[in-house]
Amino acid sequence: MASGEWHCQHRTFLKNEIHEKDNENVPETGCLSIIVLGASGDLAKKKTFPALFNLYRQGFLSSNEVHIFGYARSKMVDDDLRDRIRGYLPQGKEGTDDISSFLQLIKYVSGAYDDLKGFQALDKAISEHEVSKSIMEGSSRRLFYLALPPSVYPQVCKMIKNYSMNRSDHGGWTRIVVEKPFGKDLASAEELSFQIGELFEEPQIYRIDHYLGKELVQNLLVLRFANRLFLPLWNRDHIANLQIVFREDFGTDGRGGYFDEYGIIRDIIQNHLLQVLCLVSMEKPISLNPEHIRDEKVKVLQSVLPIKDEEVVLGQYDGYKDDPTVPDNSNTPTFATVVLRIHNERWEGVPFILKAGKALNSKKAEIRVQFKDVPGDIFKCQKQGRNEFVIRLQPSEAMYMKLTVKQPGLEMSTTQSELDLSYKERYHEIVIPEAYERLILDTIRGDQQHFVRRDELKAAWEIFTPLLQRIDDGAFRPITYQPGSRGPAEGDELLERAGYVHTDGYVW
Ligand code: NDP
Ligand code: BG6
Repeated sequence: MASGEWHCQHRTFLKNEIHEKDNENVPETGCLSIIVLGASGDLAKKKTFPALFNLYRQGFLSSNEVHIFGYARSKMVDDDLRDRIRGYLPQGKEGTDDISSFLQLIKYVSGAYDDLKGFQALDKAISEHEVSKSIMEGSSRRLFYLALPPSVYPQVCKMIKNYSMNRSDHGGWTRIVVEKPFGKDLASAEELSFQIGELFEEPQIYRIDHYLGKELVQNLLVLRFANRLFLPLWNRDHIANLQIVFREDFGTDGRGGYFDEYGIIRDIIQNHLLQVLCLVSMEKPISLNPEHIRDEKVKVLQSVLPIKDEEVVLGQYDGYKDDPTVPDNSNTPTFATVVLRIHNERWEGVPFILKAGKALNSKKAEIRVQFKDVPGDIFKCQKQGRNEFVIRLQPSEAMYMKLTVKQPGLEMSTTQSELDLSYKERYHEIVIPEAYERLILDTIRGDQQHFVRRDELKAAWEIFTPLLQRIDDGAFRPITYQPGSRGPAEGDELLERAGYVHTDGYVW
């Protein structure tokens, strides 16, 4: 065996070993405590608790083994928290009372994020639950979900480590879920990683990016690597350009203070869109082992070339600064188009256009793969459009391939049509799960595949930090655009310069 090969296998073995260690003695059933820190907040009520409820309703969380704890500074009793959440839980079939029985599983503990008494009280509450369920071998499973501003992550992790993590003689585990944004730039993300890394092992840390839990994002590897059709086409020889687009038709929607500190690149592009880019562009992993997948993601991120100023357009919607929590002189972009270039054998020369904006004319997220023109075109039909493969992440999940076909009828003329897989039409009976539902279930099962590894996060920040620094310094200024528009016209001009050819008159 070549030494490089040995090294590679050895590394994999070590990673697997760590992974396994984390899972050691974990039974499929037993005591599970889910602790939502920041339980009084926006994310907790809109996403975390509803996701837990859906898992409960589908039988993934059984009241015989699960207890849910909310922790925050706000002074509340159990019923106050339950009342706060109730309205966000989706109603089920008439006559069922899932909501009340779910809410009874929730207890609330109040305390500060650096207060040992608070975390000792939390530990006591969890232990009581474990004892009440007659704790058995391996059944102290504690999942801490940090629905909190990242500024408090280090102190909270320290408190968990010192006072509330699983120390049972019966085995089990402690896992920590952290939300984005994980840092503000390379240095702060590395510092945060270091601080949390001092307290917990990498396999215990689940960095959530909820785009990785979306149905069509999870479909990307299957689509690319289980279909012979795509294998020879998915490269620079056939693909002219690739867009990953996020659009929202509302502004910062009451989150202006948070948003202004971060901006659209940190809020959407550096994480959600870049994760999608990884799955679209990475090489085939040697297996579905989470580490093999994430190794490939890291490689592709490390192959991204420095971003050029002329391949960036920033925008800020008119009226953004009217929000009282946004400073009058804010330079924060609410729109950005950024072209990334991947320097490797597969993608050299293919622009990856990442575009995200708030307060635009529509709400959708999609991947748009545009193929090159047909050489030696005898139909003279390029003006009718190139082949495009579109993966609509939301709303109305779909995949469609735009094709040129003969216009039905007596004349020999061509027209643009499509092969269409719309999920609503094809999968009538299936309810597509919410991203958070899937990801929380993954953390309970110890599956890291859809979470961001530390080196992956570092590589992602390396790509954007120089550009973000120039924006923060005021050296790069956003162009004003009208709310409800497509964003600054310069964004479309950049798209055209990058080689994207718009099909006139075609509507899917
Ligand atoms: P919130 O601002 O609602 O904060 C959550 C809770 O944390 C609050 O209820 C408050 O609880 C406590 N808190 C707030 N500010 C501070 C502070 N400065 N110091 C200490 N505690 C504080 O945040 P969200 O729920 O919106 O977000 C939580 C995390 O999830 C963040 O990292 C966010 O970026 C991320 N996220 C949020 C999304 C959303 O849609 N809201 C979407 C994706 C990610 P109390 O005062 O009771 O202790
Ligand atoms: C969050 C961003 O991560 O994703 C928000 O902080 C954004 O600004 C949201 O609105 C979009 O998520 P989704 O799932 O609605 O596309």
